Amino acid sequence: MIERIKQLLDEVEQLHAASPEEVEALRIKYLSKKGEISQLMDDFRTVPAEMKKELGKRINELKSRATERINELKAGVAVLDTVADDVDLTRTPYPISLGTRHPLTIVKNEIVDIFSRLGFTLAEGPEVEDDWHVYSSMNFADDHPARDMQDTFFVEAHPDIILRSHTSSVQARVMERQQPPIRVICPGRVYRNEAVSARAHCFFHQVEGLYVDKNVSFKDLKQVLLLFAQEMFGSDTKIRLRPSFFPFTEPSAEMDVSCTICGGKGCSMCKGSGWLEILGCGMVDPAVLEANGIDSTVYSGYAFGMGIERIANLKYQVKDLRMFSENDVRFLEEFTAAN
Ligand code: PHE
Repeated sequence: MIERIKQLLDEVEQLHAASPEEVEALRIKYLSKKGEISQLMDDFRTVPAEMKKELGKRINELKSRATERINELKAGVAVLDTVADDVDLTRTPYPISLGTRHPLTIVKNEIVDIFSRLGFTLAEGPEVEDDWHVYSSMNFADDHPARDMQDTFFVEAHPDIILRSHTSSVQARVMERQQPPIRVICPGRVYRNEAVSARAHCFFHQVEGLYVDKNVSFKDLKQVLLLFAQEMFGSDTKIRLRPSFFPFTEPSAEMDVSCTICGGKGCSMCKGSGWLEILGCGMVDPAVLEANGIDSTVYSGYAFGMGIERIANLKYQVKDLRMFSENDVRFLEEFTAAN
Protein backbone atom coordinates (compact mmCIF):
# COMPACT_ATOMS: atom_id res chain seq x y z
CA MET A 1 0.00 0.00 0.00
CA ILE A 2 2.85 2.33 0.82
CA GLU A 3 4.16 1.84 -2.73
CA ARG A 4 0.77 2.75 -4.16
CA ILE A 5 0.71 5.95 -2.11
CA LYS A 6 4.18 6.93 -3.33
CA GLN A 7 3.22 6.23 -6.92
CA LEU A 8 0.07 8.36 -6.68
CA LEU A 9 2.06 11.19 -5.07
CA ASP A 10 4.47 11.10 -8.03
CA GLU A 11 1.57 11.16 -10.48
CA VAL A 12 -0.01 14.09 -8.70
CA GLU A 13 3.22 16.12 -8.91
CA GLN A 14 3.38 15.56 -12.69
CA LEU A 15 -0.23 16.53 -13.46
CA HIS A 16 -0.91 19.08 -16.12
CA ALA A 17 -3.99 20.33 -17.87
CA ALA A 18 -4.71 22.69 -20.75
CA SER A 19 -8.39 23.36 -20.20
CA PRO A 20 -10.97 23.51 -17.38
CA GLU A 21 -12.42 20.19 -18.69
CA GLU A 22 -9.09 18.44 -18.28
CA VAL A 23 -8.77 19.75 -14.73
CA GLU A 24 -12.24 18.45 -13.91
CA ALA A 25 -11.36 15.01 -15.33
CA LEU A 26 -8.28 14.88 -13.10
CA ARG A 27 -10.30 15.93 -10.07
CA ILE A 28 -12.70 13.08 -10.71
CA LYS A 29 -9.86 10.62 -11.22
CA TYR A 30 -8.15 11.43 -7.96
CA LEU A 31 -10.49 13.20 -5.58
CA SER A 32 -14.06 12.04 -6.30
CA LYS A 33 -15.97 9.49 -4.22
CA LYS A 34 -14.86 6.72 -6.53
CA GLY A 35 -11.48 8.23 -7.21
CA GLU A 36 -8.02 6.80 -6.51
CA ILE A 37 -7.69 8.32 -3.08
CA SER A 38 -11.13 7.17 -1.91
CA GLN A 39 -10.18 3.66 -2.96
CA LEU A 40 -7.05 3.88 -0.85
CA MET A 41 -9.27 4.93 2.09
CA ASP A 42 -11.41 1.82 1.56
CA ASP A 43 -8.34 -0.43 1.51
CA PHE A 44 -7.08 1.35 4.61
CA ARG A 45 -9.81 -0.26 6.74
CA THR A 46 -8.21 -3.66 6.27
CA VAL A 47 -4.61 -2.76 7.24
CA PRO A 48 -3.26 -4.14 10.52
CA ALA A 49 -3.75 -1.81 13.53
CA GLU A 50 0.00 -1.18 14.09
CA MET A 51 0.35 0.30 10.55
CA LYS A 52 -2.71 2.50 10.69
CA LYS A 53 -1.02 5.54 12.18
CA GLU A 54 1.77 5.75 9.60
CA LEU A 55 -0.42 4.95 6.59
CA GLY A 56 -3.21 7.25 7.75
CA LYS A 57 -0.76 10.13 7.89
CA ARG A 58 0.57 9.43 4.40
CA ILE A 59 -2.87 9.14 2.84
CA ASN A 60 -3.84 12.47 4.37
CA GLU A 61 -0.71 14.06 2.98
CA LEU A 62 -1.44 12.64 -0.45
CA LYS A 63 -4.98 13.94 -0.32
CA SER A 64 -4.03 17.48 0.61
CA ARG A 65 -1.24 17.58 -1.97
CA ALA A 66 -3.65 16.34 -4.68
CA THR A 67 -6.21 18.98 -3.68
CA GLU A 68 -3.52 21.66 -3.83
CA ARG A 69 -2.31 20.55 -7.27
CA ILE A 70 -5.81 20.47 -8.73
CA ASN A 71 -6.47 23.96 -7.38
CA GLU A 72 -3.19 25.19 -8.88
CA LEU A 73 -4.15 23.73 -12.25
CA LYS A 74 -7.55 25.37 -12.00
CA ALA A 75 -5.94 28.76 -11.39
CA GLY A 76 -3.46 28.15 -14.21
CA VAL A 77 -6.06 27.39 -16.87
CA ALA A 78 -8.13 30.33 -15.65
CA VAL A 79 -5.18 32.63 -16.49
CA LEU A 80 -4.68 30.90 -19.84
CA ASP A 81 -8.35 31.52 -20.53
CA THR A 82 -8.13 35.27 -20.02
CA VAL A 83 -4.86 35.51 -21.96
CA ALA A 84 -6.43 33.68 -24.85
CA ASP A 85 -9.45 35.98 -24.81
CA ASP A 86 -7.85 39.37 -24.34
CA VAL A 87 -4.33 39.30 -25.74
CA ASP A 88 -3.14 38.70 -29.24
CA LEU A 89 0.05 36.78 -28.56
CA THR A 90 1.12 37.04 -32.19
CA ARG A 91 1.23 40.84 -32.11
CA THR A 92 4.67 42.52 -32.13
CA PRO A 93 5.42 44.22 -28.81
CA TYR A 94 4.47 47.90 -28.66
CA PRO A 95 7.52 50.17 -28.37
CA ILE A 96 8.59 50.42 -24.75
CA SER A 97 10.33 53.74 -24.29
CA LEU A 98 13.33 53.50 -22.01
CA GLY A 99 14.33 56.44 -19.84
CA THR A 100 17.37 58.48 -20.76
CA ARG A 101 20.44 59.19 -18.72
CA HIS A 102 20.71 62.77 -17.55
CA PRO A 103 23.16 64.76 -19.71
CA LEU A 104 25.24 65.59 -16.63
CA THR A 105 25.48 61.89 -15.79
CA ILE A 106 26.52 61.11 -19.36
CA VAL A 107 29.28 63.71 -19.21
CA LYS A 108 30.35 62.72 -15.69
CA ASN A 109 30.63 59.07 -16.73
CA GLU A 110 32.68 60.07 -19.72
CA ILE A 111 35.10 62.13 -17.59
CA VAL A 112 35.37 59.37 -14.98
CA ASP A 113 35.96 56.79 -17.73
CA ILE A 114 38.81 58.75 -19.24
CA PHE A 115 40.56 59.21 -15.90
CA SER A 116 40.01 55.63 -14.83
CA ARG A 117 41.85 54.55 -17.97
CA LEU A 118 44.70 56.75 -16.72
CA GLY A 119 44.76 54.91 -13.38
CA PHE A 120 42.53 57.14 -11.25
CA THR A 121 40.06 55.53 -8.86
CA LEU A 122 36.75 57.00 -7.75
CA ALA A 123 36.34 58.74 -4.38
CA GLU A 124 33.16 60.26 -3.01
CA GLY A 125 32.34 62.23 0.12
CA PRO A 126 29.46 63.99 1.90
CA GLU A 127 27.73 67.09 0.52
CA VAL A 128 27.08 68.39 4.05
CA GLU A 129 30.61 69.01 5.28
CA ASP A 130 32.56 70.73 8.02
CA ASP A 131 34.69 73.82 7.60
CA TRP A 132 37.90 71.84 8.08
CA HIS A 133 37.50 69.59 5.03
CA VAL A 134 36.17 72.32 2.72
CA TYR A 135 38.35 75.27 3.74
CA SER A 136 40.85 75.00 6.61
CA SER A 137 42.61 71.83 5.45
CA MET A 138 42.67 73.32 1.95
CA ASN A 139 44.73 76.28 3.13
CA PHE A 140 41.99 78.93 2.97
CA ALA A 141 42.89 81.83 5.29
CA ASP A 142 40.36 82.54 8.04
CA ASP A 143 39.29 85.71 6.27
CA HIS A 144 39.16 84.24 2.76
CA PRO A 145 36.12 85.66 0.95
CA ALA A 146 34.89 82.20 -0.14
CA ARG A 147 34.05 81.51 3.51
CA ASP A 148 31.68 84.43 3.43
CA MET A 149 27.95 83.89 3.73
CA GLN A 150 27.71 85.41 0.25
CA ASP A 151 29.34 82.30 -1.15
CA THR A 152 28.77 79.50 1.30
CA PHE A 153 25.56 77.93 2.60
CA PHE A 154 25.72 77.37 6.34
CA VAL A 155 23.60 74.94 8.29
CA GLU A 156 21.61 77.10 10.69
CA ALA A 157 22.90 77.16 14.28
CA HIS A 158 26.03 75.19 13.28
CA PRO A 159 28.57 77.70 11.96
CA ASP A 160 31.02 74.87 11.38
CA ILE A 161 28.69 72.80 9.18
CA ILE A 162 28.27 73.88 5.57
CA LEU A 163 27.24 72.63 2.16
CA ARG A 164 30.50 71.94 0.36
CA SER A 165 31.36 74.61 -2.19
CA HIS A 166 33.85 72.44 -4.04
CA THR A 167 34.74 68.74 -4.11
CA SER A 168 38.26 69.45 -2.83
CA SER A 169 36.78 68.35 0.51
CA VAL A 170 36.80 64.79 -0.85
CA GLN A 171 40.53 65.11 -1.56
CA ALA A 172 41.04 66.12 2.09
CA ARG A 173 39.08 63.08 3.19
CA VAL A 174 41.15 60.76 1.00
CA MET A 175 44.47 62.23 2.18
CA GLU A 176 43.59 62.00 5.86
CA ARG A 177 42.98 58.27 5.64
CA GLN A 178 45.47 57.19 2.99
CA GLN A 179 49.19 57.75 2.43
CA PRO A 180 50.55 58.21 -1.13
CA PRO A 181 50.51 57.01 -3.81
CA ILE A 182 47.07 58.59 -4.16
CA ARG A 183 45.37 58.92 -7.52
CA VAL A 184 41.68 59.72 -7.21
CA ILE A 185 38.93 61.37 -9.15
CA CYS A 186 36.10 62.96 -7.11
CA PRO A 187 32.81 63.75 -8.86
CA GLY A 188 29.95 65.34 -6.96
CA ARG A 189 27.44 68.10 -6.40
CA VAL A 190 28.55 71.38 -4.85
CA TYR A 191 26.65 74.41 -3.56
CA ARG A 192 27.30 78.14 -3.79
CA ASN A 193 25.13 80.98 -2.69
CA GLU A 194 24.42 82.48 -6.12
CA ALA A 195 21.25 83.94 -7.57
CA VAL A 196 19.82 81.43 -10.04
CA SER A 197 20.04 82.61 -13.65
CA ALA A 198 20.82 81.23 -17.09
CA ARG A 199 24.52 81.44 -16.28
CA ALA A 200 24.74 80.59 -12.57
CA HIS A 201 23.01 78.22 -10.18
CA CYS A 202 23.08 77.65 -6.44
CA PHE A 203 24.26 74.11 -7.07
CA PHE A 204 26.30 72.52 -9.79
CA HIS A 205 28.60 69.55 -10.31
CA GLN A 206 32.33 69.15 -10.30
CA VAL A 207 34.95 66.54 -10.95
CA GLU A 208 38.23 67.05 -9.15
CA GLY A 209 41.35 64.96 -9.45
CA LEU A 210 44.29 64.48 -7.11
CA TYR A 211 47.60 62.73 -7.63
CA VAL A 212 50.17 62.56 -4.83
CA ASP A 213 53.35 60.51 -5.00
CA LYS A 214 57.12 60.92 -5.00
CA ASN A 215 58.47 63.19 -7.76
CA VAL A 216 55.15 64.33 -9.20
CA SER A 217 55.78 67.41 -11.32
CA PHE A 218 53.91 70.00 -13.36
CA LYS A 219 54.90 68.06 -16.50
CA ASP A 220 52.82 65.09 -15.29
CA LEU A 221 49.86 67.38 -14.71
CA LYS A 222 50.13 68.93 -18.16
CA GLN A 223 50.43 65.56 -19.87
CA VAL A 224 47.40 64.09 -18.10
CA LEU A 225 45.29 67.17 -18.87
CA LEU A 226 46.31 67.13 -22.53
CA LEU A 227 45.32 63.46 -22.77
CA PHE A 228 42.03 64.22 -21.07
CA ALA A 229 41.25 67.15 -23.40
CA GLN A 230 42.01 65.08 -26.49
CA GLU A 231 39.90 62.14 -25.31
CA MET A 232 37.02 64.43 -24.38
CA PHE A 233 37.00 66.89 -27.27
CA GLY A 234 38.90 65.11 -30.07
CA SER A 235 42.52 64.32 -30.90
CA ASP A 236 43.17 67.72 -32.57
CA THR A 237 42.39 69.58 -29.35
CA LYS A 238 45.11 71.88 -28.03
CA ILE A 239 45.45 73.10 -24.45
CA ARG A 240 46.75 76.34 -22.98
CA LEU A 241 47.65 76.95 -19.34
CA ARG A 242 47.39 80.45 -17.89
CA PRO A 243 48.79 81.39 -14.44
CA SER A 244 46.10 81.67 -11.79
CA PHE A 245 45.61 81.46 -8.04
CA PHE A 246 43.95 78.93 -5.73
CA PRO A 247 44.66 78.73 -1.98
CA PHE A 248 45.35 74.99 -2.23
CA THR A 249 47.70 74.90 -5.23
CA GLU A 250 51.02 76.59 -5.93
CA PRO A 251 51.74 77.26 -8.72
CA SER A 252 48.18 77.38 -10.05
CA ALA A 253 46.82 77.57 -13.55
CA GLU A 254 43.63 77.75 -15.52
CA MET A 255 43.36 75.58 -18.57
CA ASP A 256 41.76 76.47 -21.89
CA VAL A 257 41.05 74.10 -24.76
CA SER A 258 41.00 75.13 -28.40
CA CYS A 259 37.43 76.05 -29.28
CA THR A 260 35.29 72.96 -29.86
CA ILE A 261 33.24 74.80 -32.49
CA CYS A 262 35.73 76.74 -34.64
CA GLY A 263 38.86 74.76 -33.76
CA GLY A 264 40.69 77.95 -32.77
CA LYS A 265 39.86 80.35 -35.60
CA GLY A 266 37.53 82.43 -33.47
CA CYS A 267 33.71 82.28 -33.33
CA SER A 268 30.82 83.43 -31.15
CA MET A 269 31.23 80.44 -28.81
CA CYS A 270 34.83 81.42 -27.90
CA LYS A 271 34.08 85.12 -28.33
CA GLY A 272 36.65 85.33 -31.09
CA SER A 273 39.56 84.15 -28.93
CA GLY A 274 39.77 80.58 -30.22
CA TRP A 275 40.01 79.28 -26.63
CA LEU A 276 37.53 78.02 -24.02
CA GLU A 277 38.32 77.90 -20.33
CA ILE A 278 37.51 74.50 -18.81
CA LEU A 279 39.33 73.89 -15.55
CA GLY A 280 41.54 75.01 -12.69
CA CYS A 281 44.66 73.11 -11.67
CA GLY A 282 48.03 73.29 -10.01
CA MET A 283 50.62 71.63 -7.80
CA VAL A 284 49.17 70.80 -4.38
CA ASP A 285 50.41 73.43 -1.91
CA PRO A 286 52.79 71.78 0.60
CA ALA A 287 50.69 73.34 3.38
CA VAL A 288 47.71 71.26 2.17
CA LEU A 289 49.74 68.05 2.21
CA GLU A 290 50.97 68.81 5.74
CA ALA A 291 47.49 69.74 7.02
CA ASN A 292 46.29 66.36 5.79
CA GLY A 293 49.09 64.33 7.36
CA ILE A 294 51.31 63.87 4.29
CA ASP A 295 55.03 64.67 4.49
CA SER A 296 55.62 67.43 1.94
CA THR A 297 59.39 66.90 2.00
CA VAL A 298 58.87 63.40 0.57
CA TYR A 299 55.78 63.78 -1.58
CA SER A 300 54.40 66.23 -4.10
CA GLY A 301 51.16 66.24 -6.04
CA TYR A 302 48.91 67.92 -8.51
CA ALA A 303 45.19 68.64 -8.44
CA PHE A 304 42.64 69.85 -10.94
CA GLY A 305 38.94 70.61 -10.88
CA MET A 306 36.28 71.26 -13.49
CA GLY A 307 32.56 71.97 -13.66
CA ILE A 308 30.53 69.21 -15.30
CA GLU A 309 27.88 71.69 -16.50
CA ARG A 310 30.61 73.68 -18.24
CA ILE A 311 31.90 70.62 -20.11
CA ALA A 312 28.34 69.54 -20.93
CA ASN A 313 27.68 73.02 -22.33
CA LEU A 314 30.67 72.79 -24.59
CA LYS A 315 29.54 69.40 -25.83
CA TYR A 316 25.83 70.09 -26.19
CA GLN A 317 25.58 73.92 -26.29
CA VAL A 318 22.90 74.16 -23.65
CA LYS A 319 22.23 77.87 -23.43
CA ASP A 320 20.53 78.00 -20.04
CA LEU A 321 22.06 76.28 -16.98
CA ARG A 322 18.64 75.89 -15.40
CA MET A 323 17.73 73.30 -18.04
CA PHE A 324 19.99 70.84 -16.23
CA SER A 325 17.93 70.86 -13.06
CA GLU A 326 14.37 71.38 -14.29
CA ASN A 327 13.92 67.83 -15.57
CA ASP A 328 11.79 68.85 -18.51
CA VAL A 329 11.42 65.53 -20.34
CA ARG A 330 11.46 67.24 -23.74
CA PHE A 331 15.00 68.36 -22.92
CA LEU A 332 16.07 65.06 -21.35
CA GLU A 333 14.74 63.02 -24.27
CA GLU A 334 17.18 64.79 -26.58
CA PHE A 335 19.93 62.73 -24.98
CA THR A 336 18.48 59.31 -25.82
CA ALA A 337 21.11 58.67 -28.46
CA ALA A 338 23.93 59.79 -26.17
CA ASN A 339 23.21 57.02 -23.65
N1 PHE B 1 38.37 73.62 -6.16
C1 PHE B 1 38.49 74.50 -7.31
C2 PHE B 1 37.14 75.14 -7.55
O1 PHE B 1 36.17 74.76 -6.95
C3 PHE B 1 38.94 73.79 -8.54
C4 PHE B 1 40.35 73.34 -8.45
C5 PHE B 1 40.66 72.08 -7.96
C6 PHE B 1 41.38 74.18 -8.82
C7 PHE B 1 41.95 71.66 -7.88
C8 PHE B 1 42.69 73.75 -8.74
C9 PHE B 1 42.96 72.51 -8.27
O2 PHE B 1 37.01 76.03 -8.35
